[in-house]
Amino acid sequence: MNEPAALSERFQALDRFLLEHAALWRPRPFTRRELPWEAQHSDLADWLRQRSLEQAEEAHNRPAELQAPAPFPELAREAEALSTLPRLAAARYRHLSSRQLRDIPGRKLAQIQAFADCLPPSEQPRHWLDWCAGKGHLGRYLTQAGDRLSALEWDPALAQAGRQLSARAAIEAEHHCVDVLTEGATAHLTAGHSAVALHACGDLHIRLLQLAAEAGCPAIAVAPCCYNRIAGRDYRPLSSAARASALRLDIDDLALPLTETVTAGTRERRQRDHSMARRLAFDLLQRELRGEDDYLPTPSLPSAWLHEPFAAYCRHLAELKGLPCPAERDWAALEQQGWTRLAQVRNLELLRALFRRPLETWLLLDRALYLEEQGYRVTLGTFCEPTLTPRNALLLAQRVAG
Ligand SMILES: C[S@@+](CC[C@H](N)C(=O)[O-])C[C@H]1O[C@@H](n2cnc3c(N)ncnc32)[C@H](O)[C@@H]1O
Repeated sequence: MNEPAALSERFQALDRFLLEHAALWRPRPFTRRELPWEAQHSDLADWLRQRSLEQAEEAHNRPAELQAPAPFPELAREAEALSTLPRLAAARYRHLSSRQLRDIPGRKLAQIQAFADCLPPSEQPRHWLDWCAGKGHLGRYLTQAGDRLSALEWDPALAQAGRQLSARAAIEAEHHCVDVLTEGATAHLTAGHSAVALHACGDLHIRLLQLAAEAGCPAIAVAPCCYNRIAGRDYRPLSSAARASALRLDIDDLALPLTETVTAGTRERRQRDHSMARRLAFDLLQRELRGEDDYLPTPSLPSAWLHEPFAAYCRHLAELKGLPCPAERDWAALEQQGWTRLAQVRNLELLRALFRRPLETWLLLDRALYLEEQGYRVTLGTFCEPTLTPRNALLLAQRVAG
């Protein structure tokens, strides 16, 4: 998989798979009363639609295991074969003193350790560049005796907290307060930096790949996240293979990989479900009020709205969207329809869920192929289990000499 030809072959296979099945993963069940594929795969649609909300929740993180009618199992097998990434080889990087580790929140520390353990060792001292560093925990963790650290972060409070932590750990570090998307960021990258980024969103990590390649950084390690955080609606592919593809992605498509979530707590889940059931019920109402069978986007609402009676909720939201005030009706029945729809939506989403990893892998390979074009040898794999973070892919790039 990590040989250059393998990366490109995998990309082409994923590209074909995603294009062939775009009608299955693109339409969002939340915004439609019926999906375009349901007529063609009516057994699968009927089967999914009669399942409960609890059953959908259970299958959310392992949709491929669902014993659903065709073509679900075949698609699940193909998706898995195309998007399973190898676990990167790991060696315990270093042990910081417990005093230094104390400042890093538990889950973040486990992610940082797993990330660091996958970086190739070096005999030479390194100058780490921690990109969108927050407090710079990752950079500090990597900085061993003789190394230096530069951390870039636009939030002044985080940069200042980072400075204090680095001083306390007696690490030679500079924490720059800089917006990495501005021209000024260019000056912070040189051919002497080993660049790292843990969970830098869409445009932020893309910018790092571009600037680090331009500067000739010898090593780049990036764990991307939030692919949909880009300027504009349309994704701009990086590699020539992705630019040549007929697959055109917009920010709604780019959000698909992020729909895989670490299981939320019961209270959080109940609140999320309640909010979505109400939105789906309101969606039925707004179609009626407007006389148009189309989805109408609504803004995210303060959680206090959920404590209002459902009738008041609907009247408020109708007013907010400039719709006529809904007349008295059986509000309990409408709200119940929202819950029924929610169970259907969540189960129908399990088909889309099969494409989360293929789409993410396509995006990762676009980045990997771009780096190869820029003269890097690239390794793509996972650095931890998805239970620690579903954004567990790591791109490792070493500049090829010459
Ligand atoms: C998801 S956090 C990751 C932080 C850190 N790498 C970690 O894993 O703990 C993303 C960080 O990027 C910073 N950030 C967002 N936009 C930025 C920008 N335009 N320039 C610099 N930093 C930015 C945020 O303030 C935040 O600290």
